[in-house]
Amino acid sequence: MALIAHLSDVHFGAHDPRVVEASEAWLRRHRPDLVVISGDLTQRARVRQFREAAAYLERLRAAGLAVLTVPGNHDVPLYDVARRLFTPLRRYRRYITHDLSPWFENDEVAVLGINTSRALAVTGGRINRSQMQIIEERFRAVESQKTRILVTHHPLFALPIGKGDALGGAVGRSEDAVAALGRAGVHLALAGHFHRTYAEAASRMMETAGHALVVQAGTATSTRLRAEERQSFNWLDVRRHNDLELQVIAWDGHEFRHGNRVHYTYAEGAWQARPLRGEAAAPPPE
Ligand SMILES: [Fe+2]
Ligand SMILES: [Fe+2]
Repeated sequence: MALIAHLSDVHFGAHDPRVVEASEAWLRRHRPDLVVISGDLTQRARVRQFREAAAYLERLRAAGLAVLTVPGNHDVPLYDVARRLFTPLRRYRRYITHDLSPWFENDEVAVLGINTSRALAVTGGRINRSQMQIIEERFRAVESQKTRILVTHHPLFALPIGKGDALGGAVGRSEDAVAALGRAGVHLALAGHFHRTYAEAASRMMETAGHALVVQAGTATSTRLRAEERQSFNWLDVRRHNDLELQVIAWDGHEFRHGNRVHYTYAEGAWQARPLRGEAAAPPPE
């Protein structure tokens, strides 16, 4: 069993300090095996914002938590054109991590982050051939019983949660990326960017997607709320690659609370979702 906290779009610079503090307290108390932050660590890629994001990550690590991040489109400077074109991720690399394909592995899970943010795509994302190769090669070496988890900022799939809920927002070269995901045997594809929570079997979106369950996180700590969703993050209890629970941990204006909890099982080529009651899912405090 592995416990993964999936946060996204923390947007330092457009954050709510109370929610930031509460998220830290929640993570320190519930102690996931890994904290994933799927991009948009800052609001405008400013030095001060990166420093605040780095301090947040440092506090989580100082509490003994493992953290894996990927950059989002907001982590590339928007208005400073020279910096945007020639050194788009310099500040991310300097303040957050040099590693744009981060890896985490324990006895249960193997987690790979892939950067989809680009200088020329202002809000959209892309993935290139060598990244698809990395996805296949890294996961090929993983023992078969482990759950293989891919993290990107932009979803690889067109999802019905974009602007106006029209289907959209997939990365460039989406079809090739999804095929690579299927060949790599990815079980979980975690992403953000839309500030909306969502989960669906990838095979219902694209035939070539294989086994994956697509999981989107809302914004964990920012004030950039969409569709009346409050701040939230996902809590994943991964028992096996065909058996997991997903629970949304949502801010209620005062504290983070256990929200909807769904048990997913994969059998005979399909994910089955079974809603469970909320509070009972709470993992025991330390
Ligand atoms: Fe965002
Ligand atoms: Fe984004």
